[in-house]
Amino acid sequence: GGTMKEFVEKSVKEIQEQIGNGKAICALSGGVDSSVCAVLVHKAIGDRLTCVFVDHGLLRKGEREEVEEMFRGKYHINLITVDAEDRFLEKLKGVSDPEQKRKIIGEEFIRVFEEEQAKLSGYDYLVQGTIYPDIAESGKDGKGLVKSHHNVGGLPEDVNFELVEPLKTLYKEEVRQVGRELGMPDVMVNRQPFPGPGLGVRVLGEITKEKLDILRDADYIYRDEVAKAGLDTKIWQYFAAMPDFSVTGVKDGERTYSRTIFLRAVNSEDAVTADWYPFDMEFLKRVSKRITSEVPQVNRVLYDITQKPPGTIEFE
Ligand code: XMP
Repeated sequence: GGTMKEFVEKSVKEIQEQIGNGKAICALSGGVDSSVCAVLVHKAIGDRLTCVFVDHGLLRKGEREEVEEMFRGKYHINLITVDAEDRFLEKLKGVSDPEQKRKIIGEEFIRVFEEEQAKLSGYDYLVQGTIYPDIAESGKDGKGLVKSHHNVGGLPEDVNFELVEPLKTLYKEEVRQVGRELGMPDVMVNRQPFPGPGLGVRVLGEITKEKLDILRDADYIYRDEVAKAGLDTKIWQYFAAMPDFSVTGVKDGERTYSRTIFLRAVNSEDAVTADWYPFDMEFLKRVSKRITSEVPQVNRVLYDITQKPPGTIEFE
């Protein structure tokens, strides 16, 4: 609509004014916010934008490839992919507190960017896809009223780039409208939100590569079934998470003691409140059967029927 067209024009002008002849690095996560943000800033400054996509080892199955194909292939945006799995997992070893994990992931992100910035010359601006609910929920000082979203709250003091956050006054749905206004395809604009710390807050408690791989496989099956049922555009956010305990089960007459998978699916306007999605029982049965048969380390699947509030959308 007209208002989003105006927003884009005004925003492009503001970005050009802020950055001038400078160059910017974009923190690309592949989610809706950072993707729309990257395309918006690319519209404003073109080749003077370089996107850095950090593969922190906390991504969903196939995600890195999708992002590379989209930004490099389709948009011809400068894109650097950083292989950082080992260093993130090393930093996260033995850490189980959710806020501590977010802090570590957020700080490591900044370090990675700083290193990339050091390799390039003249990149003084850091573009981030922060949206309004991120700020509202993190409190004015970014200290986390609800959760400390990793992309809010200021950079460490020794980091010398200036923030560019063109989406910070928008709600999610408005961000999608901006994306459409920019001619972005539906698959991208309608993409479900994905948290910056990624599967780091969906492997509950301590993170290991083994748990991540199991979760990735289960989540992939869940997403596949949601898409096959034609529900991917009807559900705001849906994902699998893995609790920090094993449970007893039985397979081929043998007692097992292995992994549980939580399934979450919610509809929401703005992430501030949310309601769980009423899947039909056959759908849930199908997903559960597939996950427990195709992912050998999983012997139980649970569906979350908690609204926000009092729950949150994520489990951590
Ligand atoms: P909650 O769990 O607080 O999530 O109801 C609200 C929305 O925010 C996403 N989320 C995050 N996004 N960094 C992010 O960039 C984070 O640390 C983070 N935690 C939650 C969540 O996926 C949901 O869409």
